Amino acid sequence: MCGIVGYLGDHKASDIILSGLEKLEYRGYDSCGIFFHDLDHDQYITYKDKGRVKHLMDDFDYQFTNHLAIGHTRWATHGRPNLENSHPHFSLSKRLGIVHNGVIENYQELTAKYLSDITFSSETDTEVIVNLIEYFLDELPIEESIRKTLSLLEGSYALLIIDTHDPSIIYAAKSKSPLLIGLHPEGITLASDVMALIGHATHYYPMEDKTFAVVSQNNDVYEYQIYDIIGTKLSPELLEMDLVLDEIGKAGYSHYMLKEICEQPSVVRKIMSKYLDSETCRIPEDVISFFMDATRIYIIAAGTSMHAGFVGKYYFEHISHIPTEVFIASEFAYNQPLISSERPLFVFISQSGETADLRACLTKIKERKFPTITITNVATSTLAREADRFIEIHAGPEIAVASTKAYVGQVTILAIIAYQLAPHKPFSLARELSRLAVAMDAIIDKRDYIGRIVSDKLTHRNCFYIGRGLDYFTCLEAALKLKEISYIQAEGFAAGELKHGTIALIEEGTPVIALISQKRINHNTRANIREVLSRGAEVIVISLTDVSESADQVILMDVHEMLSPLLMVIPTQLIAFYSALHLNRDIDKPRNLAKSVTVE
Ligand code: AGP
Ligand code: GLU
Repeated sequence: MCGIVGYLGDHKASDIILSGLEKLEYRGYDSCGIFFHDLDHDQYITYKDKGRVKHLMDDFDYQFTNHLAIGHTRWATHGRPNLENSHPHFSLSKRLGIVHNGVIENYQELTAKYLSDITFSSETDTEVIVNLIEYFLDELPIEESIRKTLSLLEGSYALLIIDTHDPSIIYAAKSKSPLLIGLHPEGITLASDVMALIGHATHYYPMEDKTFAVVSQNNDVYEYQIYDIIGTKLSPELLEMDLVLDEIGKAGYSHYMLKEICEQPSVVRKIMSKYLDSETCRIPEDVISFFMDATRIYIIAAGTSMHAGFVGKYYFEHISHIPTEVFIASEFAYNQPLISSERPLFVFISQSGETADLRACLTKIKERKFPTITITNVATSTLAREADRFIEIHAGPEIAVASTKAYVGQVTILAIIAYQLAPHKPFSLARELSRLAVAMDAIIDKRDYIGRIVSDKLTHRNCFYIGRGLDYFTCLEAALKLKEISYIQAEGFAAGELKHGTIALIEEGTPVIALISQKRINHNTRANIREVLSRGAEVIVISLTDVSESADQVILMDVHEMLSPLLMVIPTQLIAFYSALHLNRDIDKPRNLAKSVTVE
């Protein structure tokens, strides 16, 4: 979580940092700050704001000439999101300034051992790092002090450090939290995410765990050196920048989330073009062979990606006939189940590819030498690099904190893999996915209608989604989306389960949204609808044409039953979007959340 940016180069550093922070704000937005070298007066200046980057930009004095700067947008882990705790932080003498993404697990032990005399100015673990470096400066030169400090840190960090004694250097270090070095002949940019490098780098290097970098200016040349923690020089492999600015704009939409919802039919079509060739699936052979060897699949994921995993389980079991289990990553990491299968395969599903809970599982699974595959939207991410194989989702950058198109991308890819593995192809996947994309377009075109239903009916502080079978998984995702961005307390239930307790909460006017896409369970879900209606619920039914009744509020074009989660989720995303709009919420950056959850 959180975004950090640093720059050393010919251009105005503060401009690059502030626009970089804006692009990274989706990663954390509790507070923000910038620290730079004012060239004209040879002094260092800090600006911090306990709110958004926009506010920091409004207060910023743009007169300064500066070519060296670091900046931060925070997702608070240690201490409240106030001005004192916002980054950058400084060593006691103010010689060193630091920005940090991550969590230092042993900061209290380190404080007790080395820094018991210091009165800190914040509650953060970050301030311990910077003071520890200064502590070692009594005996060691700066680079060694940093490396000595890194060797003592337990936890996760991406760090940028400025030593005010030398305005031609930025020090950087990384373990578990992401950090990239972007290269351009006119300067070097460092950032948590490739988005902040767009326009400022031709190539970039994603730093490896436990590495340390020195970015420096030598006359007119900008250089970098990468070392491991004991100081051995490393030769990094550079990647080419292939993102363009257009891909991360709002393209005329009011919100990223709405843009991303509307992009979903194209995401399905793009994935088809990448992984389907008419009736032939083209998931690479070295990936598919992992699935073919497996006697049991273990899917590990969090949040929305875990909901995609539930649909994946259904596909693997019903289409490919491979037993599959789905685990919450944060539970699996420290409460591992009995792995009874002889040839298990571990599949990690993650939009960002950086989720710390998944990384903790991956490390443990790799220790046991089981095969691993990551399905991710970010090909350069840590989980993509660290698993044995990875599959790219190709949904394009997803910027709204609430995930929409990545979910659709994940489920589409899971359907293609399951289909490729199927001994007998039960239907034409290419034809059904094309029909699905058309049905998605149709409901997206009618989105204003959903907006009207929401303002009429979703007026309570709570809401229930009910459905059975595949619809139940969509209910879980629908409820998460609604809570995340509207703050309406929403729960998804297997429709038959409501009467075992939760129905006690239904009273006059309680909104209940029922999803019905499958013929087999239409009758049963309708019975559950009657149960809540007779207790006063305000019911909204979303159904496919084939199983619809004339009174249903949203009727979608028919698609193949197996693909229904991909269609049914769209009106629920729109319900979440319009509810949040109606309630005047910050839709793309909901409170307390961050896009990349890089802390456990
Ligand atoms: C989705 O809307 C959420 N913001 C969240 O649940 C997310 O899906 C989860 O944090 C997992 O992230 P990942 O897919 O990047 O691993
Ligand atoms: N642990 C640090 C803090 O609470 C950094 C959090 C972050 O990654 O934003 O300030």
